[in-house]
Amino acid sequence: MRVLFATSEAYPLIKTGGLADVSGALPKALSQLKATDGAVDIKIVMPAYSAVLAKLKHAKTITDIQVLGEACSLIVGKMPDENTEREIEVIAIKNAALYERAGGPYSDEHGVDWLDNALRFGVLSRVASLLCSQHSPLQNWQPDLIQCNDWQTGLAPAYMKLIDNSNVKSIFSIHNLAFQGCFDASWVEKLGLPEAHFDINGFEYFDQLSFLKAGLFYADQLCTVSPNYAHEIQTEKFGFGLQGLLKTRSKELTGILNGIDTEEWNPGTDVHLPKNYSDARITGKKAVKHALQQQLGLQINADAPLLGVVSRLTHQKGLDLLPEIMPKLIKNGCQFAILGSGDKVLEAQFNDFAERYPTQVSMSTGYHEHLSHNIMAGSDMFIMPSRFEPCGLNQLYGLAYGTPPVVSLTGGLADSVCDTNELSLKNNLATGFVVKNVSATSLLVTIERAIDLWKNKKTWRQIQKNGMQANIGWNSRAVDYLALYEKTLTEN
Ligand code: ADP
Ligand code: GLC
Repeated sequence: MRVLFATSEAYPLIKTGGLADVSGALPKALSQLKATDGAVDIKIVMPAYSAVLAKLKHAKTITDIQVLGEACSLIVGKMPDENTEREIEVIAIKNAALYERAGGPYSDEHGVDWLDNALRFGVLSRVASLLCSQHSPLQNWQPDLIQCNDWQTGLAPAYMKLIDNSNVKSIFSIHNLAFQGCFDASWVEKLGLPEAHFDINGFEYFDQLSFLKAGLFYADQLCTVSPNYAHEIQTEKFGFGLQGLLKTRSKELTGILNGIDTEEWNPGTDVHLPKNYSDARITGKKAVKHALQQQLGLQINADAPLLGVVSRLTHQKGLDLLPEIMPKLIKNGCQFAILGSGDKVLEAQFNDFAERYPTQVSMSTGYHEHLSHNIMAGSDMFIMPSRFEPCGLNQLYGLAYGTPPVVSLTGGLADSVCDTNELSLKNNLATGFVVKNVSATSLLVTIERAIDLWKNKKTWRQIQKNGMQANIGWNSRAVDYLALYEKTLTEN
């Protein structure tokens, strides 16, 4: 089966969040499926940001094309991988003015969204559709199916249906319904979309052009990153106004829980850690905690519970609840290792704690892959009280690293973390701690409950073991995606 995977970020080429982790790992897992499960020949299409051009292996330009009035080159290269035999092919869209800029994929150095994002991701969507058309610039390779990811690729299914009359089937994957890619109606014409479909039954959303709604409306099948989120987004509370459309398409909406890349995120082999450890030999985790405390200037103390946070700092993640409860936790001897950026007020609040309590609180801003692995491994527990969470990868990394997560009961967090109580402990199912309501009081009570158990080394060891032994790699999930691909090809 030939699959085109359209995305705006993919690790290790470029990453702002979990979408990149999934785009890096899922195609790899699919391409490694055993022939008995079904072989998948998969290529990624994405923008050629400067970082992508710098990291892509064996890159060569295959053709020059005009897309939405922009002169682009298509570059084909390989995703860097230690195992060169299974390197995934990437089709990168090069246009220096659109993609080679200082700053991130979506915004400038100050976090302000690029004003021409409609054009930048319109071009990505248009190229993805062209690759699925009779006029594909790739002569020897036509996909059977395209998987589009998030709003940045949402126009591809619309172009495929309305302009290219494509036979290729499409799946639109929702990683986060909160980001909708809504732009002024004038973009409809500029992006070459038929005005007649600027309609409630089309890509119009409250008088704007919505890339996300286009994907939800025109794709043959929809999927999202956890079964629970698939239900939640059909409700008013989590549907961001799109619950009606999602409900009408509920038969075509599948939830598949994300996995983790067990080569990148494995405490036994993680190259970022000063000492490796595993479920069977967990003592190395103590050395990582010691080194982390030293590196961050925290008091070196094995007996102080160390709470880790690695996150985008946005309303979604619920970390604005922490400042209210930190004074009490600090007073009781807790330490915090925080890595995150986003909300400036929250960054300032965490920085303020770090200045006042330098031996107990460390705050790092910016994006640091190396530190994120060390916080994940060196902390005793991981804090993630999200208000909504389509899947979440960090709680999965916490499970794999023997760092039980403290999470809220939502989306993929509810699907992946089992709260610790008498029954779950007895059945060896307990893997973390679930906050009942997303409130500061509830978070405090849950963290205190976790710390009490952390002091009981034998029980804690069991909770760590349960998480570390859980099956959270991509292999079985890739089989689920393959089943979805097969369903899409036969039913649509
Ligand atoms: P989301 O995609 O909503 O941000 P996920 O939990 O799915 O949430 O994925 C977040 C990913 O981004 C994880 O791999 C996490 O380690 C990483 N991450 C988030 N913030 C940072 C940061 N400041 N530095 C390094 N990695 C980060
Ligand atoms: C989004 C979601 C996150 C999910 C990730 C990858 O960024 O916020 O919950 O894990 O996509 O699917």
